[in-house]
Amino acid sequence: MMNAAFAELGLDWRYLNLPLPPERFTETVLALPASGYRGVNVTIPHKVAAYELADEPSDAVHEIRAANTLTFADGVIRADNTDAGGLLDALGEPVAGRDVLVLGAGGAARGAVWALREAGAEVSVWNRTAERAAALAEELGVRAASGPADVLVNTTSVGLHGEGIESLPLAGLEPAVVVDMVYGAGVPPIARWAAERGARVVDGLEVLVRQGARSFTIWTGRAAPVDTMRAAAAVQIARTP
Ligand code: ATR
Repeated sequence: MMNAAFAELGLDWRYLNLPLPPERFTETVLALPASGYRGVNVTIPHKVAAYELADEPSDAVHEIRAANTLTFADGVIRADNTDAGGLLDALGEPVAGRDVLVLGAGGAARGAVWALREAGAEVSVWNRTAERAAALAEELGVRAASGPADVLVNTTSVGLHGEGIESLPLAGLEPAVVVDMVYGAGVPPIARWAAERGARVVDGLEVLVRQGARSFTIWTGRAAPVDTMRAAAAVQIARTP
């Protein structure tokens, strides 16, 4: 996705996969600027460590306490969380004043709840383990509850490994829009449930593309070629077993 975007804009940049164990994360990242890196995306399980090593966390990073984008410039490491804005971009319609139910209370939920709250939504959060939902809701100033909502956002991993939707409080819900962060080859079960009810479905691929587009713009200062990125990501995902 990123390499397709660099190519489209004629940039001689490369995006590489750099798997690291947690105990090597900080020393490795600190060495990257001298090796010519302009920045990195950071994913599980390093998002909190990325926040902790940043010199300049954005407001979003500071409140979410997790970063997915680091940028190296003038000896300073800046941290952003494009998962949050990327979710809103993927959603593509205003949420101010609307009831939004977020399922899950892990790292993905934190970013989603923060972004939706900042955008003016009335956010409720539900989690299988209720205490985690209560803690997240209290910390970010939203409600811990489930119930009818205009917009439903799934941040749980349900569907990622073939689980069914029985464990989720979906009965009686008729959301107009459903964002399912799960992506992969095929339609995941929450997205299928939503489509069967006539909801507009925003899939996890779109959220992935939109967070990537924001990171791309932070690093390059250029508008991201979103269509090219989406097409490249879709091809890659279709190939992934
Ligand atoms: P991430 O940081 O990607 O959000 P995580 O912290 O592992 O990942 O969170 C995964 C989320 O999926 C959690 O909210 C988890 O619920 P618990 O806190 O109760 O574990 C949720 N989850 C995973 N499997 C689930 C299932 N079968 N039914 C409902 N929720 C599930």
